[in-house]
Amino acid sequence: MITNRNIEIAPSILSADFSCLGEQIKAVERGGAGVLHVDVMDGHFVPNITVGLPVVKSLSGFTRLPIDAHLMISEPGRYATQFVSAGAQMVSVHVEADAHLHRTLMTIRDAGAQAGVVLNPATPVSAIEEALQFADYVLVMSVNPGFGGQKFIPEVIDKVKRIRRLIEERQLNVRIEIDGGIDRNNVESVVAAGAEILVAGSAIFGTSDAEAAVRELRNATIQWV
Ligand code: DX5
Ligand code: ZN
Repeated sequence: MITNRNIEIAPSILSADFSCLGEQIKAVERGGAGVLHVDVMDGHFVPNITVGLPVVKSLSGFTRLPIDAHLMISEPGRYATQFVSAGAQMVSVHVEADAHLHRTLMTIRDAGAQAGVVLNPATPVSAIEEALQFADYVLVMSVNPGFGGQKFIPEVIDKVKRIRRLIEERQLNVRIEIDGGIDRNNVESVVAAGAEILVAGSAIFGTSDAEAAVRELRNATIQWV
């Protein structure tokens, strides 16, 4: 068993009620969320459009949680540092969307944020073998990006294990985040595989009590903390 790991719950506001977003964020803060996950979609890299810079800017002045901007956009290098300026402390870009990944990761770090690299479910671990050393975290998608409320792809657990092994072999200081279909039923197995930041949208905001839902997910991982 791996001990002394800092497991964090990262509520994804994609499934929140935007008419009372502030209240919903306060609820997940009370529940013990560690990070606030903001899904940015451009209708081009993924078949959906969500929120962008003005929302990150406004939330960064509102929440005490670090904002984790997950950029599901084409050519993320064009916008990544603007998200840092808007207040995101973590910015992740998809390996499938960026032909200049090293440069983008470096510009995120230089701007003062943690840089993350994201893999879609069918993207092999080998695609990030080189990028790993330039990243602060790897975001493993456990659904195809674009929508909340999709079914968890269980094969991704093995991928998390392989990434974990790679990180340990190379003694890198890189955390693993997992995103998509995370709920009470799979949270323990993804943590056991090596994930440390757990994104959950519908499992938190799809319930009538977001605060309790975060607390319940946290409690499920307590043996690992
Ligand atoms: C999917 C997004 C996720 C999404 C997760 O493209 O990246 O962050 O909000 O939602 P659930 O937890 O409902 O799968
Ligand atoms: Zn996401």
